[in-house]
Amino acid sequence: MPAILVRSILFTVLGGVMLLVNTVSAADAAAGPQSWYYPEGPLRGSLKSDAPLPLYDANPEHLWNRLFAAFYIRPSELPSRPEYPQDSTKLDEWDRKLRVRKLPPGPVVKRIEGGDVLGFLAWPKTRHYSESAFFQRADKLLDEFLGTRGERLIADPLKRAFFQRDLWAVFDHLVGQNIAHFGDADLAKRRAASADYKVEPEELQRDDAAAIQRRETLCRKLAAAIQRLALPKAAIKALPDNYAAAIRSGQFPARHDFDCRSNYLPPGVLTRPSEWVEIDNASGSQHRDKAEGQLAYTSWSIRGRSYYRIFWRFPEGRRAVEDYLGHLQREGVDWEKSARQGYIRLKRDVRQIPVGTETAIVEFMVVLDEELNPVPTRIVELVHVNVYKNVDGAPDPQTNTGRGLITRQYVARRRLLFDGLKQGGLERAADDAPTYRVLLNSPKDWGEFGRQQSVAQTCLHCHMYERDRVGVHSLNSISCHVPEHGMPGVVIAMGSGKVRTYSRAERTVRWKLGQEDYLRLVEYARAKPMTSPDR
Ligand code: HEC
Repeated sequence: MPAILVRSILFTVLGGVMLLVNTVSAADAAAGPQSWYYPEGPLRGSLKSDAPLPLYDANPEHLWNRLFAAFYIRPSELPSRPEYPQDSTKLDEWDRKLRVRKLPPGPVVKRIEGGDVLGFLAWPKTRHYSESAFFQRADKLLDEFLGTRGERLIADPLKRAFFQRDLWAVFDHLVGQNIAHFGDADLAKRRAASADYKVEPEELQRDDAAAIQRRETLCRKLAAAIQRLALPKAAIKALPDNYAAAIRSGQFPARHDFDCRSNYLPPGVLTRPSEWVEIDNASGSQHRDKAEGQLAYTSWSIRGRSYYRIFWRFPEGRRAVEDYLGHLQREGVDWEKSARQGYIRLKRDVRQIPVGTETAIVEFMVVLDEELNPVPTRIVELVHVNVYKNVDGAPDPQTNTGRGLITRQYVARRRLLFDGLKQGGLERAADDAPTYRVLLNSPKDWGEFGRQQSVAQTCLHCHMYERDRVGVHSLNSISCHVPEHGMPGVVIAMGSGKVRTYSRAERTVRWKLGQEDYLRLVEYARAKPMTSPDR
């Protein structure tokens, strides 16, 4: 994994800039996402306007909608995707060419990104939210929120929790840049002296003390807003089980039938341990903090604002999974290679998982309570489900990766969640939709590949990166590796044998409690909000 994540190649923008902007009428805004976004062409997935959407309240001009729009809608000007293969068996080759920049990118398009998206569109080297224009707008809105007790405008606990989550992501981004001294050219120069640091030329030239100050100002106000939105513990506990609501809605078939077009959402993932085996790493042999243990790579990447649970299902049931994991631990690991690279490497000829294996990773929301303690909730924000139609990676056009693996991504949408938990708030993302990857990406703005990869292609990229990464070798969860935390063995089946003390949810929040971004959040929330010096 890490080799994939750190790869960074300079991108040359070819072609002219296409100007395609439009406005949206008030009637359109009320109509729903079909009219908010362009459905096809180079503008597919772009908002038609940067005006606030009616997400937190039916009135787009509601303060929460305006604040949300300031943070979650931003313009982009990036090359569009080269021509995309219709035949999924061509996707792998296509992705390999894309990775080495052998595909000429499409024309540069001006778009408006964001809206009802899950991830805050920010990467560690994103400048957008440090710019003065952004600051003027966001700072004014935060003053309005703090000055008028904006948190009292909406009582619905789900909306409050989600809005807090939305603002917390902004806080972590801005404070993270200040912790990293992003914008301090003198420090960037010192780092550039070491070959291990990747420093963009721009970082060496632009000394941006004012940007650091702007971020600090916004962070102090965000911290106050985040605390004011906090729910009492009982209300957090009572947040709905939206996964169960998704299953109850009847919108998602309960069987996959190896059909990648069906919106299969497994009904038993969180409720039927005899079928779906939750896996985790064994912390017993860890010399590090045993309670914290290993964190999923993804939880680390999202800075602990979400936690992840991972499940495997074999057609033969739970025992088959347990036996298989035991086999891998005893005979499947190439320990020498594992020790050298720092994460588990399986032997090439290890016994394969069965055809029909299903796996899922479920992302849950963490909120902050009134004392600003992080609390895991049962709100599901994202679900990834994989079904193995074959385990040797043989080309199969009936699978959306083309390599025998059927992938599905379900994302929580505010407009569904807040509309009486319609579909449990979950919606499948189109396989071929161009997508930005916020998590586990390179630090540059918009990530390594911008909008070049499709949803299904990102799964292929990370899970089947090399040609021999098929079947069990494509299971990234085989040993939840996390940087700087050593390497446990193969994962174990939870609920079998020795009882574990801390769940992934608890470990995630324990980890967050020790992080500098969290400590600053608490420190800022304790202080009185500042008034802006430059306004
Ligand atoms: C940036 C790399 C990356 C991308 C993109 C990615 N994954 Fe993963 N995936 C991981 C990692 C790493 C894990 C292991 C969990 C962890 O460490 O957090 C994982 C775990 C999983 C699991 C649990 C079983 C397993 O394979 O280990 C499933 C299921 C899964 N991903 C599905 C998907 C789907 C579906 C997509 C595309 C929509 C996708 N992933 C995209 C990196 C990625």
